[in-house]
Amino acid sequence: MEKRKKIYEGKAKILYETDNPDLLIQYFKDDATAFNAAKKGTINQKGIMNNKISSKIFEYLESKGIPTHYEKMLNEREMLVKRVQIIPIEVIVRNIAAGSLCKLLGLEEGLKLACPTLEYCYKEDKLNDPMINEYHIRALKLAKDEDIETIKKYAFKINDLMKEFFKSLSIDLIDFKLEFGKFKGKVILADEISPDTCRLWEVGTGKKLDKDRFRRDLGNIEEAYQEVLARVTR
Ligand code: TMP
Repeated sequence: MEKRKKIYEGKAKILYETDNPDLLIQYFKDDATAFNAAKKGTINQKGIMNNKISSKIFEYLESKGIPTHYEKMLNEREMLVKRVQIIPIEVIVRNIAAGSLCKLLGLEEGLKLACPTLEYCYKEDKLNDPMINEYHIRALKLAKDEDIETIKKYAFKINDLMKEFFKSLSIDLIDFKLEFGKFKGKVILADEISPDTCRLWEVGTGKKLDKDRFRRDLGNIEEAYQEVLARVTR
């Protein structure tokens, strides 16, 4: 294969240039981190599973009218994506209390929220991705007001679509994280959507089918990701 220029390497993925200035290759690694990389490990075959799961979900969202950076799957670990300017904000949507929200508000894990919530975190590893609000986004010029409105609209629509999608696979969508980018002046969904970036609980048993198995040392991590992949692609 020809030598490709690496333009970015994150904790779970690598981005390479292509001959087309508008397109990048997104490579999925097996590396797993938690708590801002304080905990490190690998999940065998994770890159392959997340590439496939993410591809399916992007295809589904595109079919429902959400613009994404996804172009096509290239091989087991790589997808072709549009080259976006990433907006340095993580957008977290929640349906059920878990993780950091339980800590923040003293809630019992599993509490059904009366309505979905949306949080923003500033993507800045050295600050541990602190939670921010729209005033901070405006004050730091992280995104334009009109782009924030678009992001909110997409985030709640994606929640509705993904809740229904996973429900049909007997999986409850507890919460998830999204990243958006700008491509030719428009906001589009970027990054990945996978068990790394969602909390997914099996309907009925409540079994965790996501990265919390790694974060909390619950075991059977590969099996959980495999289970999600099997259901998403069946
Ligand atoms: P949290 O409860 O730890 O804030 O996580 C909320 C959701 O966001 C959960 O589905 C995991 C996902 N997430 C990421 O994808 N990346 C991150 O760095 C963090 C902290 C959470």
